[in-house]
Amino acid sequence: MSETAYNNRTVEGFLISSLVWGVVGIVLGLLVSMQLWEAAFNFGQYFTYGRLRTVHVNVLAYGLGLGAIFGLFYYMLVKLTKRELVFPKLARAHLWLFNIGIAVATLSLFAGLTQSLEYAEFEWPVDIVVVIIWVIFCVNIFATIIKRKENQMYVSLWFMIATAIAVAILYLVNNMSIPATLTKSYHIFTGLNSANVEWWYGHNAVGFLFTTPILAMFYYFLPVSTKMPIYSHRLSMVAFWSLIFTYLWTGAHHLVYTPLPDWLQTVAIIFSLMLIAPSWGTVVNGYFTMESDWSKLQSNYLTKFFLAAVTFYGLQTIQGPSQAIRVISSLIHYTDWVPGHVHMGTMGWVTLTACAGMYYVFPKIYATTVYSVKMANAHFWLVFIGQIMFSLTMWIAGIQQGAMLKMTNTDGTLAYTFMETLAGIYPYWQLRTVAGVVYAAGMIIFIINIVMTIVKGRNILASQTAKA
Ligand code: HEM
Ligand code: HEM
Repeated sequence: MSETAYNNRTVEGFLISSLVWGVVGIVLGLLVSMQLWEAAFNFGQYFTYGRLRTVHVNVLAYGLGLGAIFGLFYYMLVKLTKRELVFPKLARAHLWLFNIGIAVATLSLFAGLTQSLEYAEFEWPVDIVVVIIWVIFCVNIFATIIKRKENQMYVSLWFMIATAIAVAILYLVNNMSIPATLTKSYHIFTGLNSANVEWWYGHNAVGFLFTTPILAMFYYFLPVSTKMPIYSHRLSMVAFWSLIFTYLWTGAHHLVYTPLPDWLQTVAIIFSLMLIAPSWGTVVNGYFTMESDWSKLQSNYLTKFFLAAVTFYGLQTIQGPSQAIRVISSLIHYTDWVPGHVHMGTMGWVTLTACAGMYYVFPKIYATTVYSVKMANAHFWLVFIGQIMFSLTMWIAGIQQGAMLKMTNTDGTLAYTFMETLAGIYPYWQLRTVAGVVYAAGMIIFIINIVMTIVKGRNILASQTAKA
């Protein structure tokens, strides 16, 4: 097998793994959304909301998200450096270890083993596996970039480098813990310091898992799949450096109105507001890129994926900084507004961009075309509608709940109990499940389309081999 074919198999392996984990995570997402409005959907010890919510978040962030990132990064890396991976066998080992790691991590969460730090739930033995996986990944990324045959460092490579370095630092610092037993450890930081470090990590996990790698994909797959060159490389580089500089200071916006020193909260709020500029640098670059030929929206089915994705990203990066402001935080924090924000990013920006990347890569691997453009269009509209429905219902629920939590009687007592505020948002939770079903239907169509594309590609390969 040629080196290119070998690397392509690894890329394909990561992308298929990502889709498999995606199905698990989305099914669990539907189940947890139902558990919130119907207690009967909690089954036994292992299938309660408390366990499954954590599994949903981790399987999607690390299984679906990282699987797509690893696969698409290895693909882009080869193209942008104009050479094969320096260590192809290591990349294959990475693929196996990644799947074993996600499986073990998922089982450990089902078993209720957790550090109780959001997005950093894994106990220390799993952390060690994660570190090994990341080191293997970094070795290939950096070795291939150093030995590249293309002099120019395209912006996607910079976003890849930032992802590799930042995740390593964040993960190592926030997972510093003292093991007590094989399955229990304690965060080395305590009290307020623990919360501060956790949210520095938590927000940057969003930044370097759901933002920089997705920007790397956006900047690569938008021009190659639509044949429209990026509007401004200079703007993309300015946006890159300013985004990296600004992101790392914003974590404390998750701790507004907590005992964290006021000045630290204010620094985080100011940096969150500043983050609008570099984020919109990409949004503007994306729109101006499409400005060169809007007719592509009709003639190239992938264009609308990128347009919608970058629009969700633009809205997300206006909404995020607004949420950081004290007066808005006091209304929406601890309410369903936040999952509305989260899923606009994950279901809109992240999965639309990653799916568009996969629609491009699978046919390229097999030198064929996508199985069905009609199915891709149906996928797009279902995900688009499901996502908007999901976020809108959560935003309305969040504002209602925030207002009810704050409302007081004339004597100063609270007008509603916490339970009453929950009962008030049951209809929205039910609607969210409907939205989730619409989104899931879109993703199923996507997976069928990809499987059929692979089958089509493999049949072509088989007939070529038979002829030869
Ligand atoms: C300018 C960029 C952004 C800023 C300043 C920002 C700001 C915020 C703030 C202030 C919160 C906390 C809300 C609260 O609990 O009161 C939050 C939550 C969150 N944001 Fe963003 N956001 C940004 C972009 C994004 C993007 C692009 C994503 C991608 C998916 C994202 C994903 C999340 C997630 C997952 C949470 C929930 C964290 C948790 O409580 O578990 N954000 N964001
Ligand atoms: C069928 C689609 C989905 C459904 C029904 C769903 C449902 C849910 C529910 C019910 C929660 C708990 C919200 C709460 O704390 O009150 C949640 C949290 C979360 N989900 Fe999903 N989800 C879906 C898709 C996704 C996708 C595709 C991703 C990522 C790629 C994702 C990432 C997350 C994250 C990061 C959180 C934590 C949010 C926070 O702490 O505020 N979800 N999801």
